[in-house]
Amino acid sequence: MVVTGATRGIGRATAHAILERGGQVIAIGRDAGLLDELRREDEERVRIVAADLTDLENLPSVAEEAFAAFEGVDGLVNNAGMARHERVGTIQLESLEAQLRLNLMAPLLLSQLVAEHFGSRGGAIVNVSSTLSERVASGTAAYAASKAALNAITKALALELAPGVRVNAVLPGVVDTDMIRAPRLRAGETPPLGKELEARIAAQLEALRSRHPIGRLGRPEDVATVIVGLLDHPWQTGSLVTIDGGLSIA
Ligand SMILES: NC(=O)c1ccc[n+]([C@@H]2O[C@H](COP(=O)([O-])OP(=O)(O)OC[C@H]3O[C@@H](n4cnc5c(N)ncnc54)[C@H](OP(=O)(O)O)[C@@H]3O)[C@@H](O)[C@H]2O)c1
Repeated sequence: MVVTGATRGIGRATAHAILERGGQVIAIGRDAGLLDELRREDEERVRIVAADLTDLENLPSVAEEAFAAFEGVDGLVNNAGMARHERVGTIQLESLEAQLRLNLMAPLLLSQLVAEHFGSRGGAIVNVSSTLSERVASGTAAYAASKAALNAITKALALELAPGVRVNAVLPGVVDTDMIRAPRLRAGETPPLGKELEARIAAQLEALRSRHPIGRLGRPEDVATVIVGLLDHPWQTGSLVTIDGGLSIA
């Protein structure tokens, strides 16, 4: 299985879940040190490819390197993603473009490449979307749009690649990873430091936690379990599966 963004958070937990059920992992990310750390956990069954996936022109060679790692790659988890919290009026072209490249364009292009590689063997793809794709929040216009388009791509790929390739998406609520630990600043606000920063992030996490009826934020493993289930399930395709501790119904 190829897992993008496998160095941290949900991607790393997904890599672990695949290894736990006896699979092989080709981990993609930018941080060579963290990739190597994962490789050393299981040198037989983990291969790594260091790449910046926003560099779209380079994706065919990234895919080629990944597919050469093990014989017969049969799955792809498009997990790498980024979220910039910017309210309308402050969204910069560079930020909009980076989010669309990583969250939307790279998954589509990698899916095309992997589908060709699967050939008649078939395989499975899981895209990591977000509940924000269906219910936006302030400051998420670019991110939510990229994930809503990822949902559309999930269904289009599922339709066109059936019956050999199954394509599904997971829509997580708020999961406790590095992604949600950056302080959300007001326009023009200077980033806080030290204890003030810690207090700000703690308050931010508590506000997010309180919106989940299940009473806690998601853990990366909560999402990884669902991803692995979707990779395996023989009759599920074109689905958008919410895993959010009840956030969407609150
Ligand atoms: N955390 C949440 O609350 C939440 C909720 C809903 C959906 N999601 C989605 O879940 C996915 C994983 O997020 P996470 O929370 O686990 O975030 P995270 O802890 O920040 O991890 C993001 C991963 O993406 C990789 N990545 C970032 N930019 C990259 C680039 N340009 N090229 C290649 N890899 C890149 C990072 O690896 P390197 O830094 O090594 O490149 C890292 O492994 C994302 O698609 C995110 O949108 C997260």
